Amino acid sequence: RLEPPQDRYRRGLTDLRISVVDRCNFRCPYCLPEDQYPEHHAFLDKQARLSFEEITRLARIFAGLGVHKIRLTGGEPLLRRDLPVLVRQLARIEGIADIAMTSNGVLLPRFAGDLRAAGLQRITLSLDSLDAGVFRQLSGNRGEVAEVLAAIAAAERAGFGGLKLNCVVLRGVNEAGVLDLVEHFRATPHVLRFIEYMDVGTLNGWQRDRVVPSAELLERIAARWPLSPLRRAHSHDVAERYRFDDGGGEIGFISSVTAPFCGDCSRARLSADGKLYTCLFAGSGFDLRSLLRDGSSDERISAAIADCWSRRDDRYSEQRALQRAGTVEERVEMFAIGG
Ligand code: GTP
Ligand code: 5AD
Ligand code: SF4
Ligand code: SF4
Repeated sequence: RLEPPQDRYRRGLTDLRISVVDRCNFRCPYCLPEDQYPEHHAFLDKQARLSFEEITRLARIFAGLGVHKIRLTGGEPLLRRDLPVLVRQLARIEGIADIAMTSNGVLLPRFAGDLRAAGLQRITLSLDSLDAGVFRQLSGNRGEVAEVLAAIAAAERAGFGGLKLNCVVLRGVNEAGVLDLVEHFRATPHVLRFIEYMDVGTLNGWQRDRVVPSAELLERIAARWPLSPLRRAHSHDVAERYRFDDGGGEIGFISSVTAPFCGDCSRARLSADGKLYTCLFAGSGFDLRSLLRDGSSDERISAAIADCWSRRDDRYSEQRALQRAGTVEERVEMFAIGG
């Protein structure tokens, strides 16, 4: 068994985010804009995707290297058939203490009970607005806010406790609905998190003036409901946490643009076709699928992952400020690694 690897900034590897499918039933303009991704874009076919057995084998190898948290993502992870079967396999891996999933929720009412029974512990849902029209716009005309509210209710019924609810805030699009969201979810067990719009992928036409800085939102929200900062539960967590002074629970801000959190980033990402990405903004990934399919031993794959991690020097969000404007680089798409 290898020592847990550390990267060039001495960051460990504790967190594995597994994309199980690159397809999505939404076309959010900040991720997979309908009119921007190439018409001929080929989503992965079944052969190209890792099987559940391959994913589980890799997860076991990652656990041996120190990973104890797994998050399932997509695209939309519930578009992968029989996802609860995978969850059940992952839940049996020694050392995996936490299994979570990030979803848009549309298919959740159908699967919440089975996912819970299989061992899924936590769910994060995306919810950009309570306004039906704004929500529809931000889903690329594919979804309804009522579906997400139904998903929240289904998760509650299935026994999932507090959910995390992610809202990507776009200047002039959904920012006016922020207080409504806060009001709706205050005093519930669910934790709303506002995410700064990021320049992930190459298709979303990111412009800095579309970003609403967390500090601005914090000020607006605190003017209505006073807030006090909470400490991050772990130094590698992404969200800055606040609690309502009147006991109305907690909210969070994910400020990748104005307050990057690369310093202790211990997250690895596995795409549905088995590439290992050491950063959300990486240009390319390390091909683990070939190793899986050419008969490599667990030891060999483990050593390859450890080697890849030990060479890691990513800290994209911290470097963003230094970047030349207008540089177009190769960069993995958000829907291929699930955020
Ligand atoms: P847990 O720690 O498992 O509870 O999950 P989380 O807080 O990381 O939740 P989630 O996956 O919902 O992350 C929220 C959002 O933060 C993602 O959708 C991304 O938009 C952003 N994010 C997560 N990880 C990173 C990261 O490593 N770098 C950057 N720049 N953004 C990230
Ligand atoms: N900026 C910030 N967050 C994003 N997400 C997707 N694209 C972006 C972006 N450009 C987030 C969504 C969702 C998760 C899968 O990734 O909010 O919660
Ligand atoms: Fe939207 Fe998530 Fe689908 Fe991207 S993967 S289009 S953020 S629902
Ligand atoms: Fe980690 Fe890369 Fe995000 Fe920085 S930009 S927090 S290194 S994934």
